[in-house]
Amino acid sequence: MQTTLQDIKLVDIPKIEDRRGNLSVIEKDCVPFDVKRVYYLYDVPSGAYRGGHSHKKLVQFLIALSGSFEVVLKDGKHVERVMLNRPDQGLLIPTGIWRELENFSSGAVCLVLASEVYDEEDYIRNFRTFKSTKRT
Ligand code: TYD
Repeated sequence: MQTTLQDIKLVDIPKIEDRRGNLSVIEKDCVPFDVKRVYYLYDVPSGAYRGGHSHKKLVQFLIALSGSFEVVLKDGKHVERVMLNRPDQGLLIPTGIWRELENFSSGAVCLVLASEVYDEEDYIRNFRTFKSTKRT
């Protein structure tokens, strides 16, 4: 859990360019975990805010498949804001990092690859609780 913002990685996803359109592919060497779940956020109204939690065990890889959004990342000491707007780039968020997703453009789609199946017990949804896990 004692991860920091240094452990977050922006990863280039291989792109095969073609006159017929581009193709990007995610294989084992791109994502450092076995994918157990895939979900996506879409039809996000302007001004809406997603996330607002951290995870105890889960690792995630976020991709802006379409449009753009911003990810605010916190490790309890520092804050970083990352704009995702390329389908050939993914953001790797390890355990123990607080994330908030905001400023979704119209038509934005956020694809999430996750290392675990859905488990509410894995979430820390209270920022003060999150902060306290970073101190011990
Ligand atoms: P939440 O994780 O809060 O969404 P986000 O972090 O993207 O804002 O989840 C919103 C709701 O959807 C919540 O009731 C839990 C449910 N949910 C599932 O049932 N399965 C899932 O895989 C996910 C991610 C969420």
